Amino acid sequence: MHSTVALFNILKKEESAPQERPVPHHIAVIMDGNGRWAKKRGMPRTAGHRVGAETFRNIATYCKNIGVKYFTVYAFSTENWKRPAEEVDTLMNLFRRYLKEAIETMAEKGVAVRVIGDLSVLAEDIQQLIADCDKEAEKLETPAIATLCINYGGRDEIKNAVRAIAQRVQAGEMQPEDITEDTISENLYTVGMPDPDLIIRPSGEIRTSNFLLWQSAYAEYYFTDVLWPDFKPEHLEKAIEDFNRRQRRFGGV
Ligand code: FPP
Repeated sequence: MHSTVALFNILKKEESAPQERPVPHHIAVIMDGNGRWAKKRGMPRTAGHRVGAETFRNIATYCKNIGVKYFTVYAFSTENWKRPAEEVDTLMNLFRRYLKEAIETMAEKGVAVRVIGDLSVLAEDIQQLIADCDKEAEKLETPAIATLCINYGGRDEIKNAVRAIAQRVQAGEMQPEDITEDTISENLYTVGMPDPDLIIRPSGEIRTSNFLLWQSAYAEYYFTDVLWPDFKPEHLEKAIEDFNRRQRRFGGV
């Protein structure tokens, strides 16, 4: 019943979505506020993550339908391991379930699902699901791309890039003066992806929290008090409308 209602809401909004307006090429979201959403309802935090995962599905589909090519979410940070084991387990199980579903439905939906972050410490079965997901994604021609950042940290990502570049210098494959901004971009997990145009943070927090530090240099930020589990296509539309009103100058005049 719940999912039918959610689908109806998406379709209804899609019909009324102003199709002629430009949409950002790459939207990224810090999916925040799941715990508070659950607490307000006297539910365990894990319930907030479950509904948050459903919100992710709805918004990823909506993004694809309105022509957003890249949709990237912060699903688990390098710091989130400090949370209670039960919460971490629930999140890992949500990733497992979603990756299985993505492998089966990717071709039909036309959305390639990618996972980025330091994946080496994830459970082996999750790493296998990610590899299977990559294989399915490769088969798609011109898909929309939904990227989950798992065990992701912006500083950790830059540190790993610096290490990789330093190793190439040490091996004599390049000189320090050959290092350009592109060299750094090419050594990040997001290699091949355009930088985000719009980064949305729900739940009233106004910080970047180590998300896409290098890539966000010229991103527009949009903050809203709406908690992620309550985030609907209409909230995304508001963010896009706001984005379209801004003048991006990329350091020029
Ligand atoms: C931050 O909110 C959110 C997280 C640490 C986890 C986000 C993950 C999901 C929404 C599940 C994603 C699943 C899939 C399949 C993509 P918080 O819990 O810290 O919120 P709070 O600040 O209100 O406590």
